[in-house]
Amino acid sequence: MVKRRPSSSRWLHEHHNDPFVLKARREGYRSRAAYKLLEIADHPLSGAGGRLLKPGMTVVDLGSAPGGWSQVAADLVGDSGRVVAMDVLSMPPLDGVVFIQGDFLGVDGFTNLNEAIQPRKRVDVVLSDMAPNMTGIETVDQTRGELLAETAHEFARQVLGPGGTMVVKLFQGPGFHQTVRRARADFTRVKVIKPLASRDRSAEHYLVGVGFRGLPNMPATASDDGGP
Ligand SMILES: C[S@@+](CC[C@H](N)C(=O)[O-])C[C@H]1O[C@@H](n2cnc3c(N)ncnc32)[C@H](O)[C@@H]1O
Repeated sequence: MVKRRPSSSRWLHEHHNDPFVLKARREGYRSRAAYKLLEIADHPLSGAGGRLLKPGMTVVDLGSAPGGWSQVAADLVGDSGRVVAMDVLSMPPLDGVVFIQGDFLGVDGFTNLNEAIQPRKRVDVVLSDMAPNMTGIETVDQTRGELLAETAHEFARQVLGPGGTMVVKLFQGPGFHQTVRRARADFTRVKVIKPLASRDRSAEHYLVGVGFRGLPNMPATASDDGGP
């Protein structure tokens, strides 16, 4: 019989007793992470009592498996909205979600994702909950986490329409403040949020940028970009 390490036994014990895990099971969410997005989506940062995710929006969900964030996004954007989700891992189908399996940092995955979001129609919200597989070597994990966050930010700059929103998972570390500064240049309001469902011992935070300023020469509205 395989003997479990004390740390993995502790993780299993904590996981099975975690209130958000129990709540997710009761409420039909695929992961406890769903509660992080529910809290972020309700944050007053979205202004005037609004919400980050609204009916009819087009949303890209990066690092989507097993699908908690996609479930929340699909519910909030409704039948008139659209969610395109991507992960290197497989993800069982979800109503209202187009899923692309692939590596966001790889050429094929990136190309398939861009095709799925139809480049002529601008995206309203880019979500990234991507996290690297942890090696346990702090500098390696930190560098990989930063690369995912930076690439998600750059992708958001390319696909968001003016006024768009970005939510990106970030890990505390040497590049943290620089990433936040870059976001301030691109978005009118920026906030770093640690949702209640994010475990205290995790270095993860979420960078939320609303009111994308747009790129130079970008059409003022989504309907001006020649799309259908
Ligand atoms: C914390 S989990 C996401 C949980 C998800 N948001 C949910 O609500 O169920 C992080 C995910 O990022 C994915 N990921 C990490 N690197 C990736 C990459 N380069 N391309 C696509 N997905 C990636 C992992 O496979 C993993 O499923």
